[in-house]
Amino acid sequence: MDALIKKLDKNISAMVRISMLHLLQLGLKYGIFARLASPQSRGDILTSVPVGNKALLRNLINTYVKMGIIKESGGRLILDEFSYTLNISPENIPYITPGWVSIFEEIYRMVDYASITPEHPKVLMDFDKDADFWDMRLSLEFNSLYREITVKAGGLKDEMKVLDLGCGSVSPVEIGQHVGPNGEYVGIDFSPGILSIAESRIRSSGMDWVTLRELDIRKIIPKRRYDAVIMSFILEYVDSINRVVKTAMDALESGGKLIIVEPFRENYPNICAWEFFERLTKDFVGFPSRSAVLNALEASGEEFRIKELGSSVLLITKM
Ligand SMILES: C[S@@+](CC[C@H](N)C(=O)[O-])C[C@H]1O[C@@H](n2cnc3c(N)ncnc32)[C@H](O)[C@@H]1O
Repeated sequence: MDALIKKLDKNISAMVRISMLHLLQLGLKYGIFARLASPQSRGDILTSVPVGNKALLRNLINTYVKMGIIKESGGRLILDEFSYTLNISPENIPYITPGWVSIFEEIYRMVDYASITPEHPKVLMDFDKDADFWDMRLSLEFNSLYREITVKAGGLKDEMKVLDLGCGSVSPVEIGQHVGPNGEYVGIDFSPGILSIAESRIRSSGMDWVTLRELDIRKIIPKRRYDAVIMSFILEYVDSINRVVKTAMDALESGGKLIIVEPFRENYPNICAWEFFERLTKDFVGFPSRSAVLNALEASGEEFRIKELGSSVLLITKM
């Protein structure tokens, strides 16, 4: 298990570093850094950079300011010194699952289309319209890696009842297979496009113990209790973490496990570089902090025990 956790965290760190590289490329490509070699007001830079989608440009500039690439003082912006290292070493590289690299490249290219208009048809980040692209992302080895961690951490096995909040198109099969015909897997997702891909997979695998429901997890009130609740890469789309974490805790039997997988922001410096790209999905709110999740657990009013597995997985046991 330790090796899997290490692999997950190293991939997430590499995703942040590649996002930083792509973000720096955008600053060069759009002439933002060249213009900011001497001080300019925000208004001037927003007008002079030839990017039609000014909301995207504002978001890009704010990300540079957050990362300290651009300094802001007295209402003027100026380029600061910034250096960047991507560590490729014999110790690190065997951990990296390479499939996500081309997906990140594709998302990087989508920014050019989004810079014309956010609704450009070549921006493929909508959960419903672009369910196929999301399915490609969710089918990567990286995603199977954290599902394997989820199964092991939650001790998911035959006969268990499992609820997956924001299940996506792949987990219903990959996780559903572990609870088997004597168990039950209920997947909830608000995207009909994503669910129809998942549905056709479970039908062709004959997994009739898997049920999918088209619902918004911010609005549900669980009526039943489960042995395990999963939330992987979902809190980043939720503006009401307390409400959703409470829903998850309410849905657990006592002794049940809640498994949360997210790149908790205090563990990944410069994660705002990755967030810039994920904002192409209109529902993206931001990667949650570990402390926001802990506060939400406290606010749920339930007694719990928590174990941190590396930098991106929390395993919570309801007492
Ligand atoms: C990044 S994917 C992760 C999918 C899955 N948990 C996994 O790890 O493979 C996020 C999924 O959550 C769904 N989603 C986002 N916000 C949601 C909400 N408020 N209610 C239900 N589903 C939501 C999306 O449709 C998408 O399928």
